[in-house]
Amino acid sequence: LPSHYTLPSGDKIPSVALGVWQASQGEVGNAVKTALSTGYRHIDGAWIYRNEEEVGQALKASSVPREELWLTSKLWNTFHAPEDIEAALDQSLTKLGTDYLDLYLIHWPVAFKEGTTVLDEDLTADPYPTWQKLEELVDRGKIRNIGISNFNIRRIQNLTANNLKYQPAVNQVELNFWNPQPELLQWSKENGLLLEAYSPLGSDKQVGKSLSVPEVKDIACKLGITPAQVIISWSVQRGTIVLPKSVTPSRIAENLAVFELPQEDFERLETAATSHTPQRVVNPSAGWKLPFDVFDGQ
Ligand code: A2P
Repeated sequence: LPSHYTLPSGDKIPSVALGVWQASQGEVGNAVKTALSTGYRHIDGAWIYRNEEEVGQALKASSVPREELWLTSKLWNTFHAPEDIEAALDQSLTKLGTDYLDLYLIHWPVAFKEGTTVLDEDLTADPYPTWQKLEELVDRGKIRNIGISNFNIRRIQNLTANNLKYQPAVNQVELNFWNPQPELLQWSKENGLLLEAYSPLGSDKQVGKSLSVPEVKDIACKLGITPAQVIISWSVQRGTIVLPKSVTPSRIAENLAVFELPQEDFERLETAATSHTPQRVVNPSAGWKLPFDVFDGQ
């Protein structure tokens, strides 16, 4: 299975990252240190996770040279206005202790007015002004690649209908056994857009359920690997980047070891995953009191 994918910029992004969403302050630093000493070189974070400072301290404490690291962060919803973006990026850079990001994503296709949770209807309907500012920050060397997160096909097309200088390098979305999104995956492959799988194990809410899926357990047993390794390997074999989160040293190590599944096992898992009604773990539409479902119109 690929250890890296090549982005339109030519940069090579490691296929497995340590995800640090829900890795709390006080534990995320050790998780990052463990990950780096285990061989991870890709850390997937975000401004809103409120742990970038501790991640940065762990990066500094490790002896891994910056150019060997792949650091992703995400622009929060309150900073989509072009005049607010650079300051938000600078906060992430300062906390992480670096002067550039490898990848910066628009975290959600939803813009809030500055400092509020009030919807900015214009920048939500048309993210192009946000994107243009990100393109400028690429040209100025503060970001090497830009992408999107939680965009459905309609929202991607709404953005890419503009005359973009840089196409989105990735789209980071929820992808797991319960929400495998085969149509989005197929469309993304046809359109040369790499997907990144967040909550690949179903997050803390569904991880137990994911690891006890009969097909997953069977394949794990047959191949002599763990159920988590089966699911993470399946994600890479589907052609996506995978971002498992763990703060447990043994699991962090376990999750980096991916194995090519025999084709029949891969297909068995794909069929099992796509044969039930999809169940999303993450959908903040109601919590944000949006007048629409952010994933509608896929
Ligand atoms: P913890 O962080 O306490 O180790 P996801 O990556 O889908 O968001 O899932 C994260 C959840 O899965 C966390 O609760 C994490 O627990 C747990 N987890 C991560 N890796 C493994 C693993 N290899 N085996 C069992 N549970 C895991």
